[in-house]
Amino acid sequence: MTQKILILNFGGQYDQLIARRVRECGVYSEVKPYKMSVDEIKAFDPIGIIFTGGPQSVYKEGSPHPEQGVFELGLPILGICYGSQIIAHHLGGKVTVAIDDGSAEYGKTLTYFDNDCSIFKNIGKESISWMSHGDYMAKIPDGFKVVARSDKCPTVGIADETRKIYGVQFHPEVLHTQKGKEIIKNFLFEVCKAKGDWNMEDYSKVAIKEIKEKVGDKKVLLALSGGVDSSVAAALLAEAVGKNLTCVFVDHGLMRKNEGDEVEAAFAKWDLEFIRVNAQDRFLNALKGVEDPERKRKIIGEQFIRVFEDIGKKIGSVDYLAQGTIYPDVIESGKGEAETIKSHHNVGGLPDFVDFKEIIEPLRMLFKDEVRQLGKELGLPDYLVKRQPFPGPGLGIRVIGEVTKDKLDILRDADFIFREEIAKANLDSKMSQYFAVLTNMRSVGVKGDGRSYDYAICLRSVVTDDFMTADWARIPYDVLDRASVRIVNEVKGINRVLYDITSKPPATVEFE
Ligand code: XMP
Repeated sequence: MTQKILILNFGGQYDQLIARRVRECGVYSEVKPYKMSVDEIKAFDPIGIIFTGGPQSVYKEGSPHPEQGVFELGLPILGICYGSQIIAHHLGGKVTVAIDDGSAEYGKTLTYFDNDCSIFKNIGKESISWMSHGDYMAKIPDGFKVVARSDKCPTVGIADETRKIYGVQFHPEVLHTQKGKEIIKNFLFEVCKAKGDWNMEDYSKVAIKEIKEKVGDKKVLLALSGGVDSSVAAALLAEAVGKNLTCVFVDHGLMRKNEGDEVEAAFAKWDLEFIRVNAQDRFLNALKGVEDPERKRKIIGEQFIRVFEDIGKKIGSVDYLAQGTIYPDVIESGKGEAETIKSHHNVGGLPDFVDFKEIIEPLRMLFKDEVRQLGKELGLPDYLVKRQPFPGPGLGIRVIGEVTKDKLDILRDADFIFREEIAKANLDSKMSQYFAVLTNMRSVGVKGDGRSYDYAICLRSVVTDDFMTADWARIPYDVLDRASVRIVNEVKGINRVLYDITSKPPATVEFE
């Protein structure tokens, strides 16, 4: 059994980042709601628990609290920010408003560490950490020692080495915390005695075995988009169920230029059942007149399922629908305490009724980089594993407002030119994702001697390693210039090209 770290989420924005940092250390982790009961925690059987941060104050009514019994399990606990205040509050300390006495901190903060504490071993006496707290631990609980402080806050880190309970006021999971990774590693390997037994080779074996046991000799339909996630899911399922797998590629008319044919050509080479469904009219009709991004996502999600149901009926006795859903899709589609950002079409965008016995999502617990590793493990070619992500709702969420065939064609041409110029400049491997978005803004321009009143297209390119945070790519001006000149000259209907210079957060990667 792979060892597990349980991350109890108190509503912080960085819960996924904590999970990734832990997994990067070779230790499996899962994020669960803070409400998880002690019995459920016992059944989950973690080797240690991390409490995330959160926006609330522990002493306020209605703030999230774990069951008191979590402290009696004898498991190591690391509390981060709000999580550290939870520890102080529950074990007899006192948390108060820091602003009142000047110990609130935001941003990069010089922090002093006691290197005798297990989680601060070998990290040096002082370094920068990332703080964001309006409360602080005014009194630490009995049995605890102060093991880190800053110039403003006297209780930045607390530890009870006997009970293996630790609290840090800063965020070790954020890259701005210079020794953050080492601190997490120390917690995992020094305190929890982790073995570091999480890797994609083992994951692949276990996943294949589990799928085999579950599916038996029943049939599975896989929603294949040709993107990294569904391609890796296809490879995994093909290993597990062989010819009982049928891959269905739905061409919803929201694909990029030539993409449908490219996907078909790529999978024709594989030894698996592949069906292409041309469903452009169906999707466009359903989207007619719809402007709201969430409604568009839900409509596209629903249409996908209806197409699969139709195919399932044609093939006959198909029990399972498989999707390449990955962990960030699950998270960003909303879960308990955190706010729904977007309904990813293959999770929150699913209709209430789905006419399959079950939906299987073998990548549901993996981050994007883990999916790519798994793809390599399964022997997928680089051009599939390294493809930039393309969202399930496709260009439907890259045409702002109502989606029409004309707008899609304009977008496809502009997007194609942008991608071509990026490739020519050898920048494709340096960017995580790059694409064009058709805005709903029209503006006045001059073409030849005449006035034009056309759409503005926006180019977007980001660098990120996890897609949960992202920075805009610093594309050289001459590359942007070439793309811009070509787009306004070659694409009818566009007279203005914009470049998006917003990071995520506060923006998201996609516009809708
Ligand atoms: P956002 O816009 O949420 O995008 O910052 C993060 C990453 O997720 C992709 N994305 C999706 N992928 N189904 C998907 O399979 C979706 O509904 C979806 N929405 C966004 C997006 O392209 C980026 O890589």
